[in-house]
Amino acid sequence: MEIVIVPDGAAVAAHAAAAMANVIRGTERTVIGVATGSSPLGTYEALAEMVRAGELDMTDVSAFALDEYVGLDPEHPESYHSVIGKTVADQLGMDPARVHVPNGFANNFSDACDDYERAIEAAGGIDIQLLGIGANGHIGFNEPASSFASRTRLKTLAPQTRADNARFFNSIDEVPMYSVTQGLGTILDARRLLLVAQGEAKADAVAAMIEGPVASLCPASALQLHRFATVIIDEAAASKLKLRDYYDHVQHHRALAPA
Ligand code: GLP
Repeated sequence: MEIVIVPDGAAVAAHAAAAMANVIRGTERTVIGVATGSSPLGTYEALAEMVRAGELDMTDVSAFALDEYVGLDPEHPESYHSVIGKTVADQLGMDPARVHVPNGFANNFSDACDDYERAIEAAGGIDIQLLGIGANGHIGFNEPASSFASRTRLKTLAPQTRADNARFFNSIDEVPMYSVTQGLGTILDARRLLLVAQGEAKADAVAAMIEGPVASLCPASALQLHRFATVIIDEAAASKLKLRDYYDHVQHHRALAPA
């Protein structure tokens, strides 16, 4: 795992956007995986600046969102359909037909989830998956005890996740109880993983992900199994890492290492 520790959220966004832009510029018809939550918003803004400056073209890029609430009208401002539409498709000048979000309103969720897996496959797989991390270590909506082999499926949200996400709704009662999320196995199939985290509230989850055992108790520890996983975090999110100085040492010497 590549661990990059930078001073603050602005630097996280700048580094993550640069990494994504590199992949987008270097791949034909890139397929990106996109996350909701506050963590990646700065990255989307930094990418949008590149698009506005004419340094990046997203018109041929496809996107697949990690997850969606079940039972929220797609037009609800907090549905991930709306959030991804605004923060990714519109802001980055993407073709809306190429931006996919799991169906939170399906008649048959099992079929809808299989369709989503097939759509990712038909697009050629995800070149780079952007991720945030929940305070309980979830990625997407893969809550603790999710199987590392899981595929896109319906999940019951953990009480902590509903409480954390209540800030986007009038009350916790309005937060859906269920979600549809790409599985950990789906996420691990992406060719590269890029996780961003800021702030002290994420420090425990970040330490468990990087330095804890690979265990379903911390779903994000699945990143330890991926060949090309990069974690970009600020000082506050890095504050509980035991090998903090070592990660800086590695970053410092990386540029000088033989090819
Ligand atoms: C949500 C999303 C996750 C996201 C997490 C953290 O529940 N499903 O994909 O990573 O919350 O959100 P935030 O970045 O706002 O802390």
